[in-house]
Amino acid sequence: MVDAAKILQHCLDKVAKTGSRIQGRIPYRTIDGRYDDMTDADIAWWTNGFWPGLLWLAHGQTKDARLATWAKESEQHLDGALSDFFGLHHDVGFMWHISSVARYQMERNKDSLRRGLLAATVLAGRFNIQGRYIRAWNDNFDNWAIIDCLMNLPLLYWASQETGDPRFRHIAVAHTETVLKYVMQPDGSSFHIVEFDPVTGVYLRSHAGQGYKDDSAWSRGASWLVHGMALGAKYSGRADFLAAAEHAARYFIDNLPEDQVPWSDFKAPVAGNFKDASAAAITASGLLTLAELVPASRKAYYIEAARKMLDSLATNYLAPATDEALLQHGSVRYHVNEPFEKDTSLIYADYFFVEALIKLQGGKGLF
Ligand code: GLY
Repeated sequence: MVDAAKILQHCLDKVAKTGSRIQGRIPYRTIDGRYDDMTDADIAWWTNGFWPGLLWLAHGQTKDARLATWAKESEQHLDGALSDFFGLHHDVGFMWHISSVARYQMERNKDSLRRGLLAATVLAGRFNIQGRYIRAWNDNFDNWAIIDCLMNLPLLYWASQETGDPRFRHIAVAHTETVLKYVMQPDGSSFHIVEFDPVTGVYLRSHAGQGYKDDSAWSRGASWLVHGMALGAKYSGRADFLAAAEHAARYFIDNLPEDQVPWSDFKAPVAGNFKDASAAAITASGLLTLAELVPASRKAYYIEAARKMLDSLATNYLAPATDEALLQHGSVRYHVNEPFEKDTSLIYADYFFVEALIKLQGGKGLF
């Protein structure tokens, strides 16, 4: 068993070192061991909240004032996306919950509050009343709901709490009920994308999205389901959401390969499949939230499963010491569009790895 405190310290040292080079500039993935820069390339990219989020997590551990300064710089850069509006879609939760809302919860500053509430309003505005789902993206007039969206819903629960307006929360609950009905599968796995008729709200079909095929089980989707449903249970108090999170967790755990890190799709042949370290990190962090919600008799099971995944990530998936990334061997999707989309380092894998290590030691995450 690896020493979680020691691995966390290794991660914190690396984050501070990378930060002293990139400061508030926002990375997505590494190229030859160095993080790239999305700040000018695509400020509306869905992963752009993870660097400020990672900086806030690290700041919570070390109290290094530079980390807070860089996180605030990133938050300022994100204003370019918020004010432009056109690039925004359902991932505003990933972008502003762990940047602006995280900061607001610590400092109560008005600008972060405004950003968080604006983002929540954008997210709520994507709700289709007939189909009771939040529309994922803006392309091609599509009307898709995707499993990833569960992770954006904490922004809505927060907005209701902050404003006293229950509508944000109503939308979060309604969307989660739709996920239970159409996106989560009876075996506890998940489709990536489901399509609705936007006028009638009738369910039409599923799409493979980043998974292997229409009815397969993209492993990061399964990880968003475990973690997102656990958060839904935490914020809504709903017993059916908690039961669903446990069902999804059992599917994930029972279908892991020996090294505890999933292939990019649980239902694809191993040949042509790539490991996704990010799915393991997201799930490990989600399992530690789940462990807080279940009766005492089931806590140890989830903590142990999370510990085993983190142990394997720390033993077999750490990026070389010379790389800026913390983890390697992530994959963006099953059918790669670009060479970097397989066997790569990803900022969200790093974020959830650190979040899970902090939770394992009794601390808190930002979602
Ligand atoms: N939210 C998109 C992804 O997980 O790749």
